[in-house]
Amino acid sequence: MKKQLPQHIAIIMDGNGRWAEVRGRNRTFGHLRGARVAREMIEACSELGIENLTLYTFSSENWLRPLEEVSFLMALLSRHLKRERANLVKNNIQFQAIGELSRLPQSVLDEVEATTEATSACTGMKLTFALSYGGRQDIIGAVKSLVAEGVPADQIDEAAIESRLLTKGMCDPDLIIRTSGESRLSNFFLWQSAYSEIYITPTLWPNYDESELNKALEWYRTRERRFGRTTAQLNQQKSSGQKRDQVPELAPPQ
Ligand code: IPE
Ligand code: IPE
Ligand code: MG
Repeated sequence: MKKQLPQHIAIIMDGNGRWAEVRGRNRTFGHLRGARVAREMIEACSELGIENLTLYTFSSENWLRPLEEVSFLMALLSRHLKRERANLVKNNIQFQAIGELSRLPQSVLDEVEATTEATSACTGMKLTFALSYGGRQDIIGAVKSLVAEGVPADQIDEAAIESRLLTKGMCDPDLIIRTSGESRLSNFFLWQSAYSEIYITPTLWPNYDESELNKALEWYRTRERRFGRTTAQLNQQKSSGQKRDQVPELAPPQ
């Protein structure tokens, strides 16, 4: 059963504001509920045996929101990390944050560092908060590092870029879930999503739950991941035990 589970799930947790607004409440009420759902989904994924879970928590562009909302989100994040730290350790979950972390207020940075440190010896699920994260900024950072190291053009390949992305060492997301019905990536994992299966649900993040997660996982099981090949090739690969990135031998020209 575990074989059909995605190794890496990434979630674009969207719809907090709308969820609150339809209830005549302030958007911040939606963020509060959203944080609770995030905690539940972290536990659910860990119990399922998911190896990597990435939560898109705050985008590079979210800094453009009204100051009041940004301040609320930062304070919420800080409190959430402080409160959840012991739970993460108890569940053997290793935490890290990726993004332009230097833009975060010191209070959030302190909690991020304390949580990373406290969970560093955990060997279970790897939980990543994409925080102040932008896919374009990630790629720019990788390119800058290649240039700064003076890497010659003929040595720039996928592996060279991957080793300089913020996700270095992590596998690409197999499944990306976006809530709230929006069918866009909003600057999330632009490089890493090249072959991700993308599941969009109209459910708003504060209403997301384990049954919704199971629906996404069931859908994922029905996907045929071809990585550019044909179905016939995949079947042949399976029966011969060939690896995905092995280039097939071309038939000689007629
Ligand atoms: C997602 O919910 C949370 C963050 C982006 C921080 P939104 O706040 O984007 O909620 P909607 O999309 O406006 O409903
Ligand atoms: C994406 O949601 C960012 C996060 C979920 C953290 P947004 O609500 O910011 O995306 P857009 O603006 O609708 O594309
Ligand atoms: Mg949104």
